[in-house]
Amino acid sequence: MLNLDGKVVLISGTAGGQGRAAALQFAAVGARVLGCDVKAAEAQETVDMVRKAGGTMESFHPVDVSAPEVAKSWIDKAVETWGTIDVLYNNAGQMRAKGPFAETSMEDWNLTLQYELTMPFVCSRAAWPHFVRQHQGLIINTGSISAHVELMPLRSCAHGATKAGLLGLTRMLAAEGAVHGIRAISLSPGVVRSPATARFWSGEDPQQTAVGEALLRKIPLGRAASCEEIASVAVFLASPMATYINGTDILVDGGLLGVAHHPYVPAG
Ligand SMILES: NC(=O)c1ccc[n+]([C@@H]2O[C@H](COP(=O)([O-])OP(=O)(O)OC[C@H]3O[C@@H](n4cnc5c(N)ncnc54)[C@H](O)[C@@H]3O)[C@@H](O)[C@H]2O)c1
Repeated sequence: MLNLDGKVVLISGTAGGQGRAAALQFAAVGARVLGCDVKAAEAQETVDMVRKAGGTMESFHPVDVSAPEVAKSWIDKAVETWGTIDVLYNNAGQMRAKGPFAETSMEDWNLTLQYELTMPFVCSRAAWPHFVRQHQGLIINTGSISAHVELMPLRSCAHGATKAGLLGLTRMLAAEGAVHGIRAISLSPGVVRSPATARFWSGEDPQQTAVGEALLRKIPLGRAASCEEIASVAVFLASPMATYINGTDILVDGGLLGVAHHPYVPAG
């Protein structure tokens, strides 16, 4: 049975969505979780949910872990509290640049880079010396289907660039980490029902609803993933069952990339 008893797991972006689901699932199998988020009230709500379920969780909020000194104090807090870190799960992200390429502003481009590529870089860099000292550690970076294929009509050139870049960073971390007992893996969700995509399913804006419907038509399973369906893969990757997985991308997309999907037609 999967058991992470006493493991120290840091998860960024635990105020909701996949980060909250991950905090609940990691704690449920015995891990001690340190979360963080820019959203204070919702991040505290996650801590309360984990503790109510009998789990162990602390949290840093409100913090922006894309700032190197903040990332360092978040990581150091886990080591001060529990003496070690076993897993850094770089889950948090924010896609700022949306819409046609030619209309992408410098501000949105730079913010997307900051929140989707620099943020996992600075958190991983802050954890690295602890992993080296311990001669063990695992970094899980949250990639995306957008690292592999452009999901028109989602349209964000910056998001496609950052997530593809993060897969490259993951390979580099695995290459350099091996001699130190450090593994690095990216976990790429397809389309997930989370606060980040709520606008597609809320029915409030016909244009956004049309985008959501177009996305679902591309998925052979015909639905978006739940946050729990992504979190459970992260738990598996951190478990003793996945110790040979390293330097690669694990795509959890309901068949989106592998199948050029069109509605089912029986073979004639
Ligand atoms: N939802 C999807 O369809 C989808 C698909 C592929 C990949 N992803 C990726 O999955 C990850 C989780 O996304 P989600 O769907 O749960 O979205 P979400 O917006 O619900 O969760 C992201 C969390 O990260 C937090 N966050 C953002 N910037 C932060 C910062 N600077 N410091 C601290 N916390 C910060 C947000 O406040 C939020 O709580 C992201 O990396 C996202 O790019 C999502």
